[in-house]
Amino acid sequence: MTCQILAIMGSPIPDGNIAKLLKAAKEGAEECGCTVSVIDVTALKFSGCMEYFYCKQNEGCMIHDDITQIIKRVKNADGIILAAPVMTMGFPGMIKSFIDRMQPFFMAKYIRKEPMITKNQAKWRKTLLISIGGMNVDNDFDGIRLTTNAFCDIVDSKLYAEVLQNNMDSIGDVASKEGLLEETRRVSAEMCRQIIADKEKYGN
Ligand SMILES: Cc1cc2nc3c(=O)[nH]c(=O)nc-3n(C[C@H](O)[C@H](O)[C@H](O)COP(=O)(O)O)c2cc1C
Repeated sequence: MTCQILAIMGSPIPDGNIAKLLKAAKEGAEECGCTVSVIDVTALKFSGCMEYFYCKQNEGCMIHDDITQIIKRVKNADGIILAAPVMTMGFPGMIKSFIDRMQPFFMAKYIRKEPMITKNQAKWRKTLLISIGGMNVDNDFDGIRLTTNAFCDIVDSKLYAEVLQNNMDSIGDVASKEGLLEETRRVSAEMCRQIIADKEKYGN
């Protein structure tokens, strides 16, 4: 049984803490036999949603840029790993714009009633959210959670688990937080095993 995981990397720092957590999650997924492809959002060339509303009546988006191919990759993924730091109490601007460009999934599902994700796919698609914040405040992840829930609903990929760590300004390196990398790897592997089991159960 093949299992394709799409890892969406929303930090601009290639060897930063989000990169380390994403690497652990990727290893967990690969441990289960999944193939993981990583999208480095900050390296993409794309525009934000311009509200042309082409997708209200048509398949896809009328803006042709790096997101054009990514819409297909999001559609074909069996699972998604969404990884980004908190910036100004929410997702960093580029990954938020990336998520906004998933509007064709919303229009297809809720307005045109021609979902891009099949009913069967929706039974096994799952998302793992990974995020960190510098500050030590309770509501650090509220904004990211709201957007992640909306994203998961739009692309029909159930939010399976969250790996969230605030207080990074004091912690410094995720490797120094006991058990965090191991937990990330474990949760990712657990999600992937569940995706494979559900895919076997519900077929294509
Ligand atoms: C522009 C900007 C805004 C930020 N805003 C927040 C914030 O609102 N809350 C918070 O906890 N951390 C905030 N941070 C801190 C980052 O979440 C933190 O530095 C994180 O460790 C970066 O991870 P990375 O190096 O893996 O990209 C901000 C950082 C930047 C650069």
